[in-house]
Amino acid sequence: MTVLVVGASGAVGGGVVSGLLARGERVRATSRTPDKLALPADVEVCAADLNDPGSFAGPLEGIDRVFLYADLAEPEALLATVAAAGVRHVVVLSSAAASLPGAPEDFNGSRFLRVEAAVEESGVPHTFLRPGGFASNAARWSWGVRDESAVPLPYPDAVQVPIHEQDIADVAVIALTTDTLIGAAPVLTGPERLTLREQVAVIGDAVGRPVQVIEQTEAECAAMLARYVPEVWVRQIIKDWREAVGASPAVSAEYTRITGRPSRTFRAWVADNIALFR
Ligand SMILES: NC(=O)c1ccc[n+]([C@@H]2O[C@H](COP(=O)([O-])OP(=O)(O)OC[C@H]3O[C@@H](n4cnc5c(N)ncnc54)[C@H](OP(=O)(O)O)[C@@H]3O)[C@@H](O)[C@H]2O)c1
Repeated sequence: MTVLVVGASGAVGGGVVSGLLARGERVRATSRTPDKLALPADVEVCAADLNDPGSFAGPLEGIDRVFLYADLAEPEALLATVAAAGVRHVVVLSSAAASLPGAPEDFNGSRFLRVEAAVEESGVPHTFLRPGGFASNAARWSWGVRDESAVPLPYPDAVQVPIHEQDIADVAVIALTTDTLIGAAPVLTGPERLTLREQVAVIGDAVGRPVQVIEQTEAECAAMLARYVPEVWVRQIIKDWREAVGASPAVSAEYTRITGRPSRTFRAWVADNIALFR
């Protein structure tokens, strides 16, 4: 069996490649810039762009299973290519946003629902991984922690259940190497609810000095985020935080049910990525 991993340079995709290799699977990996990939020599590397479905015709030859990011403008065309290649299982990195009430009207929820619908219509057996907010979103705070020992936030009391990207990769590997998750759409979260303020405090503990939260207005936050995030995402991030103040988001037991292990804590994610904050 050969598994095609789309987005092998990604945080989740990279974990999927390592997990598959550890299980002795044959892996072919794609990237838009394959020369930049640093993977073991036994991984076959190809160039492909999700927004150019034709670029997958070659990489899909002889492939049984596919791991796919959902960042694609024309999911129907890409999934037609995947189905035509005879793939027998596709595992999609979707989002918990697709499972929330109001998802069809929400910018973020609706884009994942469209990809999921295209997969369903393609007839290819599938698994949708629906993670909530990633612990790695805290990487956006790295410059503030390093340079100012401070993180500006408009809604520091927003509650999240941040998930380590390796947990998502672990579930993807099980989905890609067994038939147990065909037809499943597990919502995946971390093990504990944490406010943004509590996440900043965990980072402070890990670097060994207090990191202050500086309250900012939405407008100040929007101007700051707009330096490195597209406008539509600036609005979405602020909306998600605003709505998460005082919320009690579900803590999913799916990771433990599927893998038999406890999910990784936010503290573990910070320890694994401490170089970002020092
Ligand atoms: N952040 C969150 O809280 C959150 C929550 C739920 C879901 N998600 C979803 O999770 C994904 C991010 O995961 P991550 O952190 O692992 O991402 P990441 O580290 O930023 O990597 C993204 C990967 O996607 C590949 N990619 C992006 N556009 C592509 C295209 N047009 N064609 C081919 N490959 C493409 C990139 O490959 P190359 O650059 O090498 O081509 C890269 O390997 C996004 O789809 C996001 O919507 C995020």
